[in-house]
Amino acid sequence: MTTGFPAGFRWGVATSAYQIEGAARQDGRGPSIWDTFSTVPGAVASGDTGDVAADHYNRWTEDIELLAGLRVDAYRFSVSWSRILPNGYGRVEQRGLDFYRRLVDALLDKGIEPFVTLYHWDLPQALEDHGGWRNRDTASRFAEYATIVHEALGDVVSKWTTLNEPYCSSIVGYAEGRHAPGAREGHGALAAAHHLLLGHGLAVRAMRANARPGQEFGIVLNQSPVVPVTDDPADIAAADRQDCLLRRQFTDPLFGSAYPGELTSMFGAITDFSFRHAEDLAIISAPLDYVGINYYYQLHVADAPHREPDPAKRTAHDIGVDTTQLPDVPRTGMGWPVEPAGLTTALTDLKARYPRLPPIYVTENGCVYPDSSAFADVDRITYLQEHIAAAEAAATAGVPLRGYFCWSLLDNFEWAHGYKHRFGLVHIDYPTQRRTPRASYHWYRGFISAARQVPA
Ligand code: FCB
Repeated sequence: MTTGFPAGFRWGVATSAYQIEGAARQDGRGPSIWDTFSTVPGAVASGDTGDVAADHYNRWTEDIELLAGLRVDAYRFSVSWSRILPNGYGRVEQRGLDFYRRLVDALLDKGIEPFVTLYHWDLPQALEDHGGWRNRDTASRFAEYATIVHEALGDVVSKWTTLNEPYCSSIVGYAEGRHAPGAREGHGALAAAHHLLLGHGLAVRAMRANARPGQEFGIVLNQSPVVPVTDDPADIAAADRQDCLLRRQFTDPLFGSAYPGELTSMFGAITDFSFRHAEDLAIISAPLDYVGINYYYQLHVADAPHREPDPAKRTAHDIGVDTTQLPDVPRTGMGWPVEPAGLTTALTDLKARYPRLPPIYVTENGCVYPDSSAFADVDRITYLQEHIAAAEAAATAGVPLRGYFCWSLLDNFEWAHGYKHRFGLVHIDYPTQRRTPRASYHWYRGFISAARQVPA
């Protein structure tokens, strides 16, 4: 049994709004970029959309019972911006705020602490129509939205996360085009990354100005360690470029107060970086109370020719790396390599890189495997056991780890993969919306109860 975690360690599960809520046009909700993107032919597997998803918006009381049955300490969920502000700013939809109020009140009744994420990739389409995250104004709109939600729930919610994985919202959405809004750009994607960070900083500043004692503010970042496939200097340099794009582009300004210089040398040809204003770094690097990290796999990187020979026409994703050469290790049902030690590395790297790093939560970790008929998901249990042990190893090594959230409570809309891949501790039969806890649900519940009884 685990002993390396500190007293007060929080065990939880995580979800996000677009992936579970459904009710896309209910109670005045405006469209988000994922509503639009998911209707583009070929964008999402099988043409799936989040219109219904797990219908959590209508079945949330049942889902609260599932959380209570799990006996988690905490539940991480996100708020849908376009449920609160259907046009992204301006008119507030009270029915949207009321939904989240009911949800947090019910969680607190059950003794479960809400961890609110304000942005999990679902930008209001109305803001995308004005340039989305390429546009500096979107950062200010985000701070206004954060203020509204904070005012509505701040008397009872103490954990406030601004963004989930800004790398995905910027580089995957605006450079790779695999996620909404499906753009393939250079300059636009790097501007989006900066404006997301600026929006984070402005939102934290606005919420702190009205914060109650004990409230905490943080951000969630995906932290795949980047491993060169050989010790050839070209592969090492490629791994360094990937690490800069994925991790240091975000962590250096947040925790080190400056952008990595390599970003300019990597992308000088596709952007002039004039979107960075002199005052921005001070806003972005204001101290945080926690950082969440999401870990699923390590990236194995080899040097590769650029896909677009003309540097001026490259997307921000085309940095001359190949990420397809995977090591000979087991894979999940999505093909992601299973490397629990990568979680230890992700945590210890972060701690080693930034002396002023705040306490850390693992805010997402989980996997997909094909279901057996009895939902006896032994592989998922093994995956979770091994990754929790890897997190514990980091805590034992001195990383200030405060909690672990399994992704995810429910099967859900897995972005461009649609409903094919199932991350839930609870199985959803989509035609009937019947919820069935898998064996991993029962295992996690037992594990949490036992972990609490071991003195830290
Ligand atoms: C993360 C996302 C989350 C989920 C998992 C599998 O990158 O934050 O919404 O899709 O991957």
